[in-house]
Amino acid sequence: MSAKIIDGKQMAEDIRGEVAVGVKALVGSTGVVPGLAAVLVGDDPASAIYVRNKRRACEEAGIFSETFELAATTTQEELLALVAKLNEDERFHGILVQLPLPPHISERTVILALDPNKDVDGLHPLNVGLLLQGEPRFVPATPAGVQEMLVRSGNDPWGKSVVVVGRSNIVGKPLAALLMQKAKGANATVTVCHTGTADIGALTRQADIVVAAMGRPRAITADMVRDGAVVIDVGINRIEDPSRKSGTRLVGDVDFEGVSEKASAISPVPGGVGPMTIAMLLKSTLLAAERAARGPA
Ligand code: GUN
Repeated sequence: MSAKIIDGKQMAEDIRGEVAVGVKALVGSTGVVPGLAAVLVGDDPASAIYVRNKRRACEEAGIFSETFELAATTTQEELLALVAKLNEDERFHGILVQLPLPPHISERTVILALDPNKDVDGLHPLNVGLLLQGEPRFVPATPAGVQEMLVRSGNDPWGKSVVVVGRSNIVGKPLAALLMQKAKGANATVTVCHTGTADIGALTRQADIVVAAMGRPRAITADMVRDGAVVIDVGINRIEDPSRKSGTRLVGDVDFEGVSEKASAISPVPGGVGPMTIAMLLKSTLLAAERAARGPA
Protein backbone atom coordinates (compact mmCIF):
# COMPACT_ATOMS: atom_id res chain seq x y z
CA MET A 1 0.00 0.00 0.00
CA SER A 2 1.23 3.47 -0.75
CA ALA A 3 -0.08 5.95 1.78
CA LYS A 4 -2.20 8.99 1.10
CA ILE A 5 -0.36 12.10 2.24
CA ILE A 6 -2.14 14.09 4.94
CA ASP A 7 -1.30 17.60 3.76
CA GLY A 8 -1.01 19.68 6.92
CA LYS A 9 0.12 22.71 4.98
CA GLN A 10 -3.07 22.84 2.91
CA MET A 11 -5.30 22.11 5.92
CA ALA A 12 -3.54 24.82 7.91
CA GLU A 13 -4.13 27.29 5.10
CA ASP A 14 -7.83 26.40 5.12
CA ILE A 15 -8.03 26.87 8.91
CA ARG A 16 -6.17 30.16 8.77
CA GLY A 17 -8.69 31.30 6.16
CA GLU A 18 -11.54 30.26 8.49
CA VAL A 19 -9.90 32.16 11.36
CA ALA A 20 -9.56 35.27 9.17
CA VAL A 21 -13.31 35.11 8.48
CA GLY A 22 -13.98 34.76 12.23
CA VAL A 23 -11.70 37.69 13.04
CA LYS A 24 -13.52 39.91 10.51
CA ALA A 25 -16.86 38.93 11.98
CA LEU A 26 -15.69 39.65 15.55
CA VAL A 27 -14.20 43.02 14.62
CA GLY A 28 -17.34 43.88 12.65
CA SER A 29 -19.75 43.03 15.45
CA THR A 30 -17.80 44.13 18.54
CA GLY A 31 -14.79 46.18 17.41
CA VAL A 32 -12.53 43.78 19.34
CA VAL A 33 -9.33 42.90 17.45
CA PRO A 34 -7.87 39.60 18.70
CA GLY A 35 -4.35 40.05 20.04
CA LEU A 36 -1.54 37.58 20.73
CA ALA A 37 1.61 38.33 22.72
CA ALA A 38 4.51 36.00 21.97
CA VAL A 39 7.43 35.91 24.39
CA LEU A 40 10.76 34.59 23.21
CA VAL A 41 13.63 34.28 25.68
CA GLY A 42 17.14 33.63 24.39
CA ASP A 43 18.33 32.91 20.90
CA ASP A 44 17.39 29.31 20.11
CA PRO A 45 17.20 29.44 16.28
CA ALA A 46 14.31 26.94 15.99
CA SER A 47 12.24 28.91 18.54
CA ALA A 48 12.98 32.16 16.68
CA ILE A 49 11.66 30.61 13.44
CA TYR A 50 8.49 29.31 15.17
CA VAL A 51 7.78 32.71 16.68
CA ARG A 52 8.40 34.51 13.40
CA ASN A 53 6.04 32.14 11.58
CA LYS A 54 3.40 32.66 14.25
CA ARG A 55 3.66 36.42 13.91
CA ARG A 56 3.31 36.27 10.12
CA ALA A 57 0.33 33.96 10.36
CA CYS A 58 -1.32 36.35 12.85
CA GLU A 59 -0.85 39.29 10.50
CA GLU A 60 -2.40 37.37 7.61
CA ALA A 61 -5.42 36.42 9.71
CA GLY A 62 -5.98 39.97 10.99
CA ILE A 63 -4.80 39.16 14.53
CA PHE A 64 -2.78 41.86 16.29
CA SER A 65 0.49 40.36 17.42
CA GLU A 66 3.55 41.57 19.24
CA THR A 67 6.71 39.60 19.95
CA PHE A 68 8.63 40.30 23.15
CA GLU A 69 12.22 39.22 22.62
CA LEU A 70 14.26 38.91 25.79
CA ALA A 71 17.97 38.13 26.17
CA ALA A 72 19.07 34.65 27.28
CA THR A 73 20.35 36.29 30.48
CA THR A 74 16.86 37.55 31.46
CA THR A 75 16.09 36.61 35.06
CA GLN A 76 13.01 34.68 36.08
CA GLU A 77 11.79 37.76 37.97
CA GLU A 78 12.07 39.90 34.84
CA LEU A 79 10.13 37.35 32.80
CA LEU A 80 7.47 37.06 35.52
CA ALA A 81 7.16 40.86 35.55
CA LEU A 82 6.53 40.84 31.79
CA VAL A 83 3.94 38.06 32.12
CA ALA A 84 2.16 40.04 34.86
CA LYS A 85 2.09 43.09 32.58
CA LEU A 86 0.73 41.09 29.65
CA ASN A 87 -1.92 39.50 31.88
CA GLU A 88 -3.26 43.03 32.48
CA ASP A 89 -2.85 44.32 28.92
CA GLU A 90 -6.29 44.28 27.28
CA ARG A 91 -4.82 44.37 23.77
CA PHE A 92 -3.73 40.78 24.24
CA HIS A 93 -6.29 37.97 24.53
CA GLY A 94 -3.63 35.30 24.25
CA ILE A 95 -0.11 35.00 25.68
CA LEU A 96 2.36 32.47 24.39
CA VAL A 97 5.68 31.92 26.13
CA GLN A 98 7.82 30.00 23.69
CA LEU A 99 9.37 26.87 25.19
CA PRO A 100 11.97 25.74 26.00
CA LEU A 101 13.09 28.50 28.35
CA PRO A 102 16.75 28.89 29.37
CA PRO A 103 17.68 26.40 32.13
CA HIS A 104 17.89 29.05 34.88
CA ILE A 105 14.17 29.80 34.48
CA SER A 106 11.50 27.45 35.83
CA GLU A 107 8.99 26.75 33.04
CA ARG A 108 6.51 25.60 35.63
CA THR A 109 6.69 28.86 37.58
CA VAL A 110 6.24 30.93 34.42
CA ILE A 111 3.29 28.85 33.19
CA LEU A 112 1.64 29.14 36.62
CA ALA A 113 1.97 32.94 36.38
CA LEU A 114 -0.08 33.10 33.16
CA ASP A 115 -3.69 34.25 33.38
CA PRO A 116 -5.45 30.92 32.58
CA ASN A 117 -7.95 32.90 30.45
CA LYS A 118 -5.09 34.06 28.22
CA ASP A 119 -3.21 30.75 28.19
CA VAL A 120 -3.92 29.94 24.52
CA ASP A 121 -1.25 27.22 24.70
CA GLY A 122 -3.35 25.34 27.25
CA LEU A 123 -0.36 24.63 29.48
CA HIS A 124 -1.55 26.14 32.78
CA PRO A 125 -2.51 23.34 35.21
CA LEU A 126 -6.07 24.69 35.37
CA ASN A 127 -6.45 24.30 31.61
CA VAL A 128 -4.75 20.90 31.67
CA GLY A 129 -7.25 19.79 34.32
CA LEU A 130 -10.21 21.14 32.38
CA LEU A 131 -9.06 19.23 29.29
CA LEU A 132 -8.66 16.02 31.26
CA GLN A 133 -12.16 16.44 32.67
CA GLY A 134 -13.63 16.93 29.22
CA GLU A 135 -14.37 20.65 29.64
CA PRO A 136 -11.53 22.15 27.60
CA ARG A 137 -10.97 25.90 27.66
CA PHE A 138 -7.79 25.92 25.56
CA VAL A 139 -6.40 22.76 23.94
CA PRO A 140 -2.63 22.87 23.35
CA ALA A 141 -2.05 23.69 19.70
CA THR A 142 -0.14 20.60 18.61
CA PRO A 143 -2.61 18.01 20.00
CA ALA A 144 -5.48 20.11 18.63
CA GLY A 145 -3.74 20.10 15.25
CA VAL A 146 -3.30 16.32 15.30
CA GLN A 147 -6.99 15.81 16.07
CA GLU A 148 -8.01 18.23 13.32
CA MET A 149 -5.76 16.47 10.80
CA LEU A 150 -7.31 13.11 11.61
CA VAL A 151 -10.86 14.43 11.29
CA ARG A 152 -10.27 16.51 8.15
CA SER A 153 -8.47 13.63 6.41
CA GLY A 154 -11.46 11.33 6.98
CA ASN A 155 -9.78 9.35 9.76
CA ASP A 156 -11.96 10.31 12.71
CA PRO A 157 -10.52 8.64 15.85
CA TRP A 158 -14.05 7.75 17.12
CA GLY A 159 -14.00 4.11 18.24
CA LYS A 160 -10.45 3.56 16.98
CA SER A 161 -7.37 2.32 18.74
CA VAL A 162 -4.82 5.14 18.99
CA VAL A 163 -1.26 4.64 20.19
CA VAL A 164 0.59 7.82 21.15
CA VAL A 165 4.36 7.43 21.41
CA GLY A 166 5.71 10.10 23.76
CA ARG A 167 4.39 11.56 27.02
CA SER A 168 5.47 15.19 26.98
CA ASN A 169 3.32 17.79 28.73
CA ILE A 170 3.03 19.69 25.47
CA VAL A 171 2.00 16.83 23.12
CA GLY A 172 1.67 13.24 24.37
CA LYS A 173 -0.24 13.78 27.61
CA PRO A 174 -2.71 16.41 26.33
CA LEU A 175 -3.27 14.43 23.11
CA ALA A 176 -4.16 11.33 25.11
CA ALA A 177 -6.52 13.42 27.28
CA LEU A 178 -8.11 14.94 24.18
CA LEU A 179 -8.67 11.75 22.19
CA MET A 180 -10.02 9.67 25.08
CA GLN A 181 -12.95 12.05 25.74
CA LYS A 182 -16.46 11.06 24.78
CA ALA A 183 -16.58 13.98 22.38
CA LYS A 184 -16.66 14.80 18.68
CA GLY A 185 -13.44 13.80 16.91
CA ALA A 186 -12.39 11.70 19.92
CA ASN A 187 -13.82 8.69 21.81
CA ALA A 188 -10.75 6.61 20.94
CA THR A 189 -9.09 3.88 22.97
CA VAL A 190 -5.79 5.55 23.75
CA THR A 191 -2.53 3.90 24.74
CA VAL A 192 0.52 5.99 25.62
CA CYS A 193 4.00 4.51 25.10
CA HIS A 194 7.23 6.01 26.42
CA THR A 195 10.79 5.18 27.34
CA GLY A 196 9.51 2.85 30.06
CA THR A 197 7.55 0.75 27.56
CA ALA A 198 9.18 -2.66 27.09
CA ASP A 199 8.08 -3.26 23.50
CA ILE A 200 6.71 -0.20 21.74
CA GLY A 201 6.34 -2.06 18.42
CA ALA A 202 4.07 -4.67 19.98
CA LEU A 203 1.64 -1.88 20.90
CA THR A 204 1.94 0.28 17.78
CA ARG A 205 1.30 -2.80 15.59
CA GLN A 206 -2.15 -3.08 17.18
CA ALA A 207 -3.06 0.53 16.46
CA ASP A 208 -5.48 1.91 13.89
CA ILE A 209 -3.77 5.28 14.39
CA VAL A 210 -0.16 5.85 15.49
CA VAL A 211 0.98 9.30 16.65
CA ALA A 212 4.75 9.65 16.94
CA ALA A 213 5.74 12.40 19.38
CA MET A 214 8.86 11.28 21.19
CA GLY A 215 11.49 13.40 19.46
CA ARG A 216 13.65 10.60 18.05
CA PRO A 217 14.52 10.83 14.37
CA ARG A 218 12.81 8.11 12.25
CA ALA A 219 12.29 5.82 15.27
CA ILE A 220 8.93 4.46 14.06
CA THR A 221 9.83 1.97 11.34
CA ALA A 222 7.70 -0.03 8.89
CA ASP A 223 7.80 -3.19 11.04
CA MET A 224 6.13 -1.21 13.88
CA VAL A 225 2.90 -0.35 12.03
CA ARG A 226 0.21 -2.58 10.62
CA ASP A 227 -0.98 -2.51 7.02
CA GLY A 228 -3.46 0.30 6.51
CA ALA A 229 -2.69 2.20 9.72
CA VAL A 230 -2.92 5.99 9.84
CA VAL A 231 0.32 7.62 10.99
CA ILE A 232 0.74 11.17 12.28
CA ASP A 233 4.30 12.39 12.75
CA VAL A 234 4.76 15.17 15.31
CA GLY A 235 8.57 15.00 15.32
CA ILE A 236 10.82 17.74 13.99
CA ASN A 237 14.44 16.62 14.08
CA ARG A 238 17.37 18.17 12.27
CA ILE A 239 19.79 15.49 11.07
CA GLU A 240 23.03 15.66 9.11
CA ASP A 241 22.71 15.26 5.37
CA PRO A 242 25.90 15.88 3.41
CA SER A 243 23.94 15.79 0.13
CA ARG A 244 22.23 19.08 1.10
CA LYS A 245 23.85 22.46 0.68
CA SER A 246 23.05 23.28 4.31
CA GLY A 247 24.51 19.93 5.42
CA THR A 248 21.30 19.13 7.35
CA ARG A 249 17.65 18.32 6.77
CA LEU A 250 14.47 17.96 8.81
CA VAL A 251 13.00 14.54 9.49
CA GLY A 252 10.17 13.38 11.70
CA ASP A 253 9.95 10.64 14.32
CA VAL A 254 8.70 8.28 11.59
CA ASP A 255 10.78 6.58 8.92
CA PHE A 256 8.64 8.10 6.17
CA GLU A 257 10.00 6.06 3.24
CA GLY A 258 9.39 2.70 4.89
CA VAL A 259 6.19 3.48 6.78
CA SER A 260 4.46 5.15 3.81
CA GLU A 261 4.60 1.78 2.02
CA LYS A 262 2.42 0.23 4.73
CA ALA A 263 0.22 2.99 6.08
CA SER A 264 -3.04 4.04 4.44
CA ALA A 265 -2.36 7.69 5.30
CA ILE A 266 0.64 9.53 6.72
CA SER A 267 1.58 13.11 7.56
CA PRO A 268 4.91 14.33 6.19
CA VAL A 269 7.67 16.36 7.87
CA PRO A 270 7.89 19.17 7.01
CA GLY A 271 4.40 20.12 5.85
CA GLY A 272 2.41 18.06 8.34
CA VAL A 273 1.76 18.84 11.99
CA GLY A 274 4.04 21.92 12.08
CA PRO A 275 1.83 24.27 10.06
CA MET A 276 -1.26 22.91 11.84
CA THR A 277 0.15 23.90 15.22
CA ILE A 278 0.31 27.53 14.15
CA ALA A 279 -3.18 27.45 12.63
CA MET A 280 -4.65 26.00 15.84
CA LEU A 281 -2.90 28.65 17.94
CA LEU A 282 -4.59 31.34 15.84
CA LYS A 283 -7.91 29.58 16.31
CA SER A 284 -7.40 29.60 20.10
CA THR A 285 -6.48 33.28 20.03
CA LEU A 286 -9.70 34.08 18.18
CA LEU A 287 -11.61 31.99 20.72
CA ALA A 288 -9.98 33.89 23.60
CA ALA A 289 -10.93 37.21 22.02
CA GLU A 290 -14.51 36.06 21.37
CA ARG A 291 -14.84 35.08 25.03
CA ALA A 292 -13.35 38.37 26.20
CA ALA A 293 -15.71 40.32 23.91
CA ARG A 294 -18.69 38.42 25.31
CA GLY A 295 -17.67 39.32 28.86
CA PRO A 296 -17.74 37.11 31.94
CA ALA A 297 -20.07 34.12 31.57
N1 GUN B 1 7.80 25.04 21.73
C1 GUN B 1 7.55 24.09 20.81
N2 GUN B 1 6.23 23.98 20.58
C2 GUN B 1 5.63 24.88 21.38
C3 GUN B 1 4.26 25.24 21.59
O1 GUN B 1 3.32 24.69 21.01
N3 GUN B 1 4.06 26.20 22.51
C4 GUN B 1 5.07 26.80 23.18
N4 GUN B 1 4.78 27.75 24.05
N5 GUN B 1 6.34 26.51 23.00
C5 GUN B 1 6.62 25.54 22.11
